[in-house]
Amino acid sequence: MTLLELADVRAFYGRVQVLEGVSLTVPEGGAVGILGANGAGKTTTLRAVSGTVRSTGTIRFDGKDLRGLRPDQVAALGIAHVPEGRGTLSDLTVRENLRVGAYRRKDAKAIRADVDYCLELFPQLADRIRSNGSALSGGEQQMLAIARAIMARPRLLLLDEASLGLAPSTAKAVYQAIGRLRTESGIAMVVVEQNANLAFTLVDSATVLETGRNVLTGSTAELKGMDEIRRAYLGG
Ligand SMILES: Nc1ncnc2c1ncn2[C@@H]1O[C@H](COP(=O)(O)OP(=O)(O)OP(=O)(O)O)[C@@H](O)[C@H]1O
Ligand SMILES: [Mg+2]
Repeated sequence: MTLLELADVRAFYGRVQVLEGVSLTVPEGGAVGILGANGAGKTTTLRAVSGTVRSTGTIRFDGKDLRGLRPDQVAALGIAHVPEGRGTLSDLTVRENLRVGAYRRKDAKAIRADVDYCLELFPQLADRIRSNGSALSGGEQQMLAIARAIMARPRLLLLDEASLGLAPSTAKAVYQAIGRLRTESGIAMVVVEQNANLAFTLVDSATVLETGRNVLTGSTAELKGMDEIRRAYLGG
């Protein structure tokens, strides 16, 4: 069943239109990648879903029209957005950040179990549980941003360039944890990445954006086999 459907989505910052008709389908439990160069509209596509940019077109989640909803209403439906630049709270500890992620929930026992799960998924965070967000490395901040999103128990995770600025080994560890999360939780994912090699370890299919529109869409296997993808995104 389709969980998220975008059709002909256009988005605007003020009067400036930056998405020119983006389409995307995420099945229940599926993981779909969005690839593309700087400025292609990847982040804006995620913002259109989470309600943080003005848009037109179709955006449906679990059959409900998301357009016109406020970001908190979108989140309450079960969509968690891990933004570019991570957005962890620097004055709060790791534990407090995780609790913020669960602020809509009342099930204290399950919340504690989910904190434990996050710390198992990201053992580095367990060692830093009392540290302030500001004291974490870039990789730890990224792990915390993802863990905080998990704490909301979303049905759909929007991940924006989780590998950005990380050492290759750290980026790989982050993607391995996300892969494990996917397998164990069945959370569906939209994965924005400039590093296609990493994205392809996680997603079933992907779309390539160029100047605010889809230029190529296919399964991971199909895309990996295309010369233009290999040249532009896979380094050969
Ligand atoms: N807040 C904003 N106000 C005006 N224009 C914006 C704003 N944010 C992004 N843009 C413009 O919208 C277009 C798409 O930007 P977007 O951030 O979605 O690209 P992206 O694919 O995520 O790029 P990157 O890989 O650099 O993160 C770009 O031309 C960008 O300059
Ligand atoms: Mg971006």
